[in-house]
Amino acid sequence: MSRVLIRGGRLLDPSVDYDAEGDLLLEDGTIAALGADLPAEECEVVEANGLWVAPGLVDIHTHLREPGQEYKEDLASGGRAAVAGGFTSVACMANTEPTNDDPSVTKYILERAAEDSPARVYPVAAATRGLEGQVMTEMAALRDAGAVAFSDDGRVIMNASVMRRVLEYSKLVDAPIVVHAEDTGLRGEGVMNEGAVSTRLGLPGNPVAAEEIHVARDIRLARLTGARLHIAHVSSGGSVELIREAKEAGLSVTAEVTPHHLALTDESATGFDTNSKVSPPLRTHRHAKVLREALVQGVLDCVATDHAPHADHEKDVEFTAAPFGVTGLETSFAIVSDLYRSGEMSALDLIRRLSTVPARIFGIPAGTLAVGARADVVLLDPQKQWKYDAAEGFSKSRNSPWSGQKLTGRVEATFVDGRLVFRAGRGVVMQ
Ligand code: DOR
Repeated sequence: MSRVLIRGGRLLDPSVDYDAEGDLLLEDGTIAALGADLPAEECEVVEANGLWVAPGLVDIHTHLREPGQEYKEDLASGGRAAVAGGFTSVACMANTEPTNDDPSVTKYILERAAEDSPARVYPVAAATRGLEGQVMTEMAALRDAGAVAFSDDGRVIMNASVMRRVLEYSKLVDAPIVVHAEDTGLRGEGVMNEGAVSTRLGLPGNPVAAEEIHVARDIRLARLTGARLHIAHVSSGGSVELIREAKEAGLSVTAEVTPHHLALTDESATGFDTNSKVSPPLRTHRHAKVLREALVQGVLDCVATDHAPHADHEKDVEFTAAPFGVTGLETSFAIVSDLYRSGEMSALDLIRRLSTVPARIFGIPAGTLAVGARADVVLLDPQKQWKYDAAEGFSKSRNSPWSGQKLTGRVEATFVDGRLVFRAGRGVVMQ
């Protein structure tokens, strides 16, 4: 029997609004007890004085690149980056090679992840074949194979009639549709936010309207169909207003925001650093401020990293030629916990948006410290300073905007299924 006692931490369980000092007992992969002064007999004891003890973080938007682009990332390296970032469950997008638009690919990902990844991996399947926005995938077969949601993320379903059908069918399989909301015509060749900075730099801009038009369209289609719509990586304050209205109208609309859209602005592109090139683009300070407020208020439901690894030779080129995307799994907690340190968000709400709510949106059994739940647990120090160096990180790729920087807020330890899989300073200790 395996017994781990996590002793003397601040237990945070947003699923029942529990926030108290105490101990947590993990027994054979499940949470066996929580409370004050639990007996330590026959336990491996982990001291958690001064640390938060929370349900493992859940990231519903990652690109793990396997199959097909293993030179950027694979399920092993992505899984290690996940647990180093405190994530015990991650959902991986369908823009692999081949696309995850067939149950054989979904099953492959699940089988490989079970062997290679210390984090639990949940595949998101494509909504249309080849992510081409034309022909729907076999959603029921993909769902049966283990897909938890459907998305053409990275690409856009521009045909509203196809999108309507995708939403209709998603109700039959009871899974959310995740949209990359961007009008591709209006985006054009834009490589960054359209505004004063893009004009100064002479780079083609992508206006906020390209996102907002698409968010408005998909909310209308969610109303028409009654389906569950989840809006990925919201970047604009205008989108926030549309999402707020949709929620007030009682629609099944949820939304996520990335750490980079919360913390960075289009000014980051001033030095032509391609690690500020993401899709959708980083916006102005005003938009970032609205996104932060919306996350605090819960209009934006959760944080998702959009971890998008790319190799050095791909990113180390002129701004217009570089692919979109930054890594994010290993730095997410540090960046987002700024909302706690600034006093904008309570500890419980921060964990809610990083774990409990994203788990609920995707129907993943996580995000709670309830007795009987799977023992996926993270130990966090929201005040600890550390230096992040992407070259020494766990992702195969190094395209992080925070590499080389001193960050505050560190993941101290991660448990999956009651087993220690990551310990700060010691790294990923077992699989
Ligand atoms: O920046 C991004 N990179 N946004 C996306 O939607 C796709 C992603 C990728 O796959 O690299």
